[in-house]
Amino acid sequence: MDFKTDNPQEIVKLLSLRGEQAEALRREARKVRLREVGDKVYLRGLIELSNICTKDCLYCGIRKSNPCVNRYTLTPEEVLQAADFAHKEGFGSIVLQSGERRDEAFTCLIEQLVREIMRQSDGKLGITLSLGEQSEDTYRRWHEAGAIRYLLRIETSDPALYARLHPAGHSFEERLDCLRRLRETGYYVGSGIMIGLPFQSTEQVARDLLFLKDLGVDMVGMGPYLEHEQTPLWEHRHLIPSKKERYELNLNALAVLRLLMPHINMAATTAMGTLHPDGRRASLYTASNVLMPNITPTLRRKDYSLYENKICIYDSAQDSFRNIIKIIQEAECSLRLFEQGNPLHRGIPNV
Ligand code: 5AD
Repeated sequence: MDFKTDNPQEIVKLLSLRGEQAEALRREARKVRLREVGDKVYLRGLIELSNICTKDCLYCGIRKSNPCVNRYTLTPEEVLQAADFAHKEGFGSIVLQSGERRDEAFTCLIEQLVREIMRQSDGKLGITLSLGEQSEDTYRRWHEAGAIRYLLRIETSDPALYARLHPAGHSFEERLDCLRRLRETGYYVGSGIMIGLPFQSTEQVARDLLFLKDLGVDMVGMGPYLEHEQTPLWEHRHLIPSKKERYELNLNALAVLRLLMPHINMAATTAMGTLHPDGRRASLYTASNVLMPNITPTLRRKDYSLYENKICIYDSAQDSFRNIIKIIQEAECSLRLFEQGNPLHRGIPNV
């Protein structure tokens, strides 16, 4: 099936399918996935470098104004050890993720870590960064140090909804500018959204999918919104769809995006695994081809709490890895080790 539509209403219909009709949509997506990118699944070891954040997003557990967070930054040795584990086990790449900081000390720390990880892995480990909004100069420095991919979710493509989810000083336009900057700097660019947010309609999700397509992203991570009691959005929790509904909608969104963008890398998110015990397997079976095992030192994991009940916080890196091998088998996919798994084509922006 060659699926080309720019009509949000058509996509709303697909997102709203349930039962046997949803199964048919997801089977179609799996067919396209097998044909276009095969049954391969690539690993990105996720290192949650620091939960110190200068931003105050209304949905996020590690927002600056949450006084209950035990703030940490991993030592360079801890980061290098985690990266070494990933390299030796054959993970093609790692993701360095952290709360957002724009000070020179942080920029410099990342630059040095990227260089050192490149050195200790003989340039074999693909390095992805997920460190928020930064200046052109910072993005360039990190790219020159050796990072090849960058993840920056748009969260929602609707500027009005974006404004309801962020306090003053957080700008949708700036987020868009950063995505453009990343592309210009030469990164493979990943973005994504949250699904099942308060105040969010199915039509907005449909528009998000078309937005990701127009942006020509190379990678997408999209997962369900999950509540966190110590955030301002908690008081609107009665407005979010049921767990079952978020799950169904998320799976359909993954399926539709695979039809819209057959070649991209799509993550089976930890948030999907948290929402539903079968979430990551079902994402892989349907459309996703990337998994991000958490390889943050176990003792720190509970402090990187973006949302409640996050899975894997007591696992060792070895446990996460074993668990993930099982999920991939159950999804009837094949694990690719010692490969970076870069996107097949560079996305072509249409904006
Ligand atoms: N529920 C689900 N995802 C969340 N994120 C942050 N807070 C939450 C939440 N409460 C996601 C955002 C961010 C990524 C790092 O984590 O999409 O970009």
